[in-house]
Amino acid sequence: MTDTELEQALLTLLADGAAHTERELVERLSAEPVTLAQAVRALRDLGLEPRALPEDGGYRLAEPLELLDRQRIAAGLSDDTRTRLSRLEVYPLLDSTNTYLLARAGEEWPSGAVCLAERQQAGRGRLGRSWVSPFGAGLFGSLLWRFDGQPAGLSGLSLATGIAVARSLRALGVTEVGLKWPNDVLWRERKLGGILLESGASAGTLHVVAGIGLNVALPRQAALAIDQPWVDLREILGNGGVSRNRLAALLINELVEIFGRFEQGGFADLAQEWAGFDLMAGRRVRLRLPNAAVTGIVRGVDASGALLLESADGRVNTYLGGEIGLRLEQ
Ligand code: BTN
Repeated sequence: MTDTELEQALLTLLADGAAHTERELVERLSAEPVTLAQAVRALRDLGLEPRALPEDGGYRLAEPLELLDRQRIAAGLSDDTRTRLSRLEVYPLLDSTNTYLLARAGEEWPSGAVCLAERQQAGRGRLGRSWVSPFGAGLFGSLLWRFDGQPAGLSGLSLATGIAVARSLRALGVTEVGLKWPNDVLWRERKLGGILLESGASAGTLHVVAGIGLNVALPRQAALAIDQPWVDLREILGNGGVSRNRLAALLINELVEIFGRFEQGGFADLAQEWAGFDLMAGRRVRLRLPNAAVTGIVRGVDASGALLLESADGRVNTYLGGEIGLRLEQ
């Protein structure tokens, strides 16, 4: 067994959250105690906290953990997704799933590649923020998609991605999930997830990497770094209420369906569905632009995904994606 295989095997044993004696672990992993101790250190480096049990030198995790399992995810994919998906990769640790797939796009990876990571060391959010991504505490993943020719309005694609995320959360029982333009995923005004779309050109095509981060069960300590009201699925659905593998499969199915639809008809075909998730329609907001701010009442989005904002004089202006932030005024 290589070191990595040993760490993975140890993690699989500890994932049930139960106490495991050193004797049991050494036996089941066919490892020397000193090698076991090294593997435990490696898990700590990943951000996990296996607690040492002083009585017998064993270990346990603070909470049970459903590890991402490529086979379980693949088993939950629809036939349609299977035909369009070119790769599905699951990693214990990446800098960022977006950064990873952007680099692979340059190596001419085909359209329809998905990668997930248990933890991101440098998870990235919109507007240069970072995305808190502790091991096993969320769903962190990206999809690479290639477009022949210039797709109509990529800003609409980032809204369309929000529909895929909201659909999969509804299917999981998160009935009150909604979207805040352009693509914040909210539950009762608290941030449950985020979407980061990045694009480039390679292999003669335009490629887009759509990154999605969802809070599943954030450790309180790690969440201190989040500078806005947030929520995780553990709070919404209860302890043990979420299978991350099921969520990943649901999400991939919806993403592939939405990206296929967007390829055919752009955002226009999806605008009505987006409106059904829009949490801001009819509300007075303050929109932060790169060098200014405007206030107005949200009147939904147009067929390209641009925000419609009604100003005090009754005129409705459109604002496209990019560096625009939206903050609730009341
Ligand atoms: C936001 O700021 O709301 C967007 C957050 C997007 C986070 C996800 S996690 C998976 C993917 N990889 C990244 O580095 N970022 C996105």
